[in-house]
Parts: sequence; C-alpha cells; structure tokens
Amino acid sequence: MSARLALNGGQPAIPATMSFQPWPPPLDASGEALVLEAIRQNNHSGGGPHVRLLEKEFAAWNGNRHAIATCYGGAALHLCIAGCDVGAGDEVITTALSWTTSATCILHHMAVPVFIDVTWPSMHLDPARIEAAITPRTKAILVVHYWGVSCDMDPIMAIARKHNLKVIEDACQAHGALYKGRKVGTIGDCGAFSFNQNKNLCGGEGGMFVTDDDEILARARPVMSFSDMRPADAGRDYHAYGLGYKYGHANLPAAFALAGLRRLDMTNAWAIENWQRLDALLAGTPHLVRSFSSAERPTNGYAYVLRADPAYARQRGVSLSGLTNGIAAALKAEGTPFSRARWLLPAHGVFQAKNAFGKGAPWAHYARPDIDYSLGQWPVAQDCIDTCLWGINLHRPPNRQAQIDALAGSIRKVFENLDQVPEA
Ligand SMILES: Cc1ncc(COP(=O)(O)O)c(C=O)c1O
Repeated sequence: MSARLALNGGQPAIPATMSFQPWPPPLDASGEALVLEAIRQNNHSGGGPHVRLLEKEFAAWNGNRHAIATCYGGAALHLCIAGCDVGAGDEVITTALSWTTSATCILHHMAVPVFIDVTWPSMHLDPARIEAAITPRTKAILVVHYWGVSCDMDPIMAIARKHNLKVIEDACQAHGALYKGRKVGTIGDCGAFSFNQNKNLCGGEGGMFVTDDDEILARARPVMSFSDMRPADAGRDYHAYGLGYKYGHANLPAAFALAGLRRLDMTNAWAIENWQRLDALLAGTPHLVRSFSSAERPTNGYAYVLRADPAYARQRGVSLSGLTNGIAAALKAEGTPFSRARWLLPAHGVFQAKNAFGKGAPWAHYARPDIDYSLGQWPVAQDCIDTCLWGINLHRPPNRQAQIDALAGSIRKVFENLDQVPEA
C-alpha cells in the first residue's frame, strides 16, 4: 500500500507507545526455586550439582550420549576441534558466513579455517563446494546451523564419510532445530550449543559440548580443565599433561540454564508460532526475501532474517549495500526494532592479517602457505552481507500478536514504498 514513509515526514508505523519485551521471558516460580536452591547449597564450582543435572538433562533432551557444560559456546566449539583431533596446521572447512567464533575456535587449536561460500536461500555453507576445498590436511567440516535452521546434512555427511573427515555441528543458534526430524547436534560427530543472552536457551552465558563418540569425548575432556587428564574413577593429580583451559560452567548460571531447559520446548514452540505469524504476514511483500525455513529443515524460531532482493537494486541501478543502508534507515524511522547482521568471516582482521597469536601464528609456522583469504572468493555470502537487514529476536516470546503485527506492518510499509527510500 502506498504511504508516506516516516523517513520523509510520514507517521511512524510503530507508535512510540508500543513496547517490545526483551528475551527471555521471566522465570516461573519453579525456575526461581531452582536458582534459589543453587544459591543455598555449597558447591558453586564447575563440579556443582546443577552443572551435572544440566548436562544430564540436556543430553536426554537432545538425544546425545555425552554432554559437557562449558562457560561459553565458543569453549564447546573448541572442545569439538580438540575432540576431532584437529591439530597445528590442520584445515577445517567451514562457512564464510557466521558469527566470529565459528571460525576462531579453529585457531584455538593452531589449525586454520578454509572458508567456502554459502547458498543464497538458506545462507548455509554450500555442500556442492566442499569437495573442491578438501586437501590432505583437511580434518573436519564445521557446519553452522545458522539463524536457527539446520544445514543440509545428508550431502555433507556423505562427503565427510567418503573422505574420512569429522563433522562438527555449530548448533549455537539452533537448539531444537530439526533436519528431517532429527535434532541438530545428533547428526555429525560432535556439536556445540551456546546459552548466551540471545540464544533460545538463555543462561546468561554458557554452552554445551555434545557427542556420542567415546574417543572424541576422551580427547575433548582434558581441554576442559587444565588438561589434568585422569581416569574418571581417579582423583585429580593436579598435573597438566597437555595444554588445557578452564572452560567449566559455574553452578549458579547452570541452574539458571537448567530452568530455561525445562521450559525450552514451550518457549521454542512459542517462538516458532510467532515466527510463522510474522512470515505469513510478510508473504507477498515486494522486493523482500523472507527468512528461510522448510519442511525438512524447519526453523527453531531463533531469528527472522530480512533481505532485500538484489534484482530490485540492479533494476534501480543502486548498490546492494547502499539500498540496504537506506532500508535500514527507513525501518528505523518507522520505529522498527532491528539490528544489522554482517559478518563475512574471512573479512575479519585476524584472517586478513593471518595473525592470531603474534608473529603470524598459526599460519606462518604450520599452515599450507597458499591458504588465501583475499576477498571476492565468497560472492554469495557477500551478497547476503550486503542485503541482510535484520537478525533480531523481538518476534520471540514474551512478545505476542500485537508486536508481531506491528513488526510486519512496518516492514511491509517500507518495502511497499521502496521508491521513496534513497540509497544511503
Ligand atoms: C553461530 C554461533 N557460533 C558460536 C557462537 C559462540 O557462542 P558464545 O557466544 O556462547 O561463545 C555464537 C554466539 O553468538 C553463534 O551465534
């Protein structure tokens, strides 16, 4: 419908009186009781009772044999790298598009990432590009179930098995996301979840390493705690047998995460219902690429991602990023809460400089010399970055229909009047 955009002096679509509720919804009485119980007992360390319960219940909820709670999701990813026996100079194939930690976790074990491009519809690493990136040094494929939707796992697993590679699932955004009915984190060899503030399971900070493989577990576990390796039935001997870190989850935040886990099916269902309402309201919006979800790979409700259609920018003769900047300004003027999502992993300084630990380590000392991160090699991911407007979570509970309808109304208003939006 044609209307004057707030950017040009029209009435904002979302009135200042509309309030959006922050994630997560407040704990109920049983959740609060659990957290109080954690304060009132005496073991607050990583070996505390709520940490053990969180591990046990998460493993049961997700369907994994083993789960180790960590202080952040990136630590769980590091355990995956160590568990898959990835070492100095080894290569891990991963996506060009994700949050920083999906790639920096590889550096933590002195290995290096090899980035591949994504598919436009899902923004996930493109299985068709994996084989060309495999070298004798490749140890693993690290897939990211980006935006709360599973990657296309069957072709990825087939390539990995053919080439004897491990598959690591970065499920940090994807608690409860399904691939052909299977939960993510149960398909590859091991996986990692994040419990940070913004995730479907919010523990403030925190994470979870999962695997069904005893050997992967045995290699990963020492990295958790000073590399003080010992048989499970023996006491500590306080000896660092290798390089380890202190990645344990403290007991109190574990209790908070446990309270979230016990209602996760409910909050996920609510987030998905809101996501679907927003998606249905946006159907048919001109020049808008709606967020990806499919019958085989349904969203867990984590994020609704808006992209502008590159064909429209081309037809108007404006740059993708200029158009996207203009749309962002227009949405802001309409009162739409959103944040920009733009992380082309290889563009980060650490990869451009090929220097993570000083003196060019690990590349200069261990890596294949022709590893190349010059930009331009990931055109689809770059288009996603240039067109991506919105990866926010305000469609999530406790927000309800009124907020979803307001979000949809403001987005439609801007996209239906794109001719009023200047390139910025
Ligand atoms: C895809 C992805 N991987 C890894 C992480 C790292 O999780 P954390 O922040 O808990 O370390 C995040 C968190 O934002 C993420 O979104």
